[in-house]
Amino acid sequence: MTKKILLLHGPNLNLLGTREPDVYGSLTLEQINRIAEAHARRHDVELRAEQSNHEGALIDILHAARNWADGAVFNPGAYTHTSIALRDAISATALPVVEVHLSNVHAREPFRHVSMLAPVCVGQVVGFGWRSYLLGIDGLLGKLGVLPEPEL
Ligand code: DQA
Repeated sequence: MTKKILLLHGPNLNLLGTREPDVYGSLTLEQINRIAEAHARRHDVELRAEQSNHEGALIDILHAARNWADGAVFNPGAYTHTSIALRDAISATALPVVEVHLSNVHAREPFRHVSMLAPVCVGQVVGFGWRSYLLGIDGLLGKLGVLPEPEL
C-alpha cells in the first residue's frame, strides 16, 4: 500500500521567503512543500503538508496523523527548544518523526542547541536549507523500508 507522510511546519515558517533569508533561504513555504511533494512522489509516497503557528494546533495535527500517516517530517521552529507538550505528542503518536531545521541550530545561539524533541524522534537533519526536508524525507523513507537497501 502507498505510504503516506506528514510534512509539518511550526511557527513563523509561513513567512519563509521573506523571513531572514540569509538564515533560512529565499524559498517560500509553498515552494518547499511543492519540492517535497514531488520528491516523495518519486518514491510513490503521498506527502501532506501542514503548518501552524500554534502549539496546540500542531499537537492536534500530530494526533490526527495517527489515523492516516506512516510517519512525519517535522520542523517545529522555536517550539523545538521549549515544548515538552510537543515531545509528549510525538511519543503518544508512536509514529516515526524526523526533526528537521533549515539552519544549523548548533552553530547559532546556545538556546537553539537544545532540542526537547530530538530524544523522541528517529533522527534529526539540520543546516541544509530546503534540502534538509528532502534529506529528512529520505531518512524517514529508509526507516519505513521504502528505499531499497544497497547492493553490496
Ligand atoms: C528553525 C530553527 C529554530 O531555532 C527557529 O526558531 C526557527 C527555524 C530552522 O528551521 O532552522 O523558527 O527551526
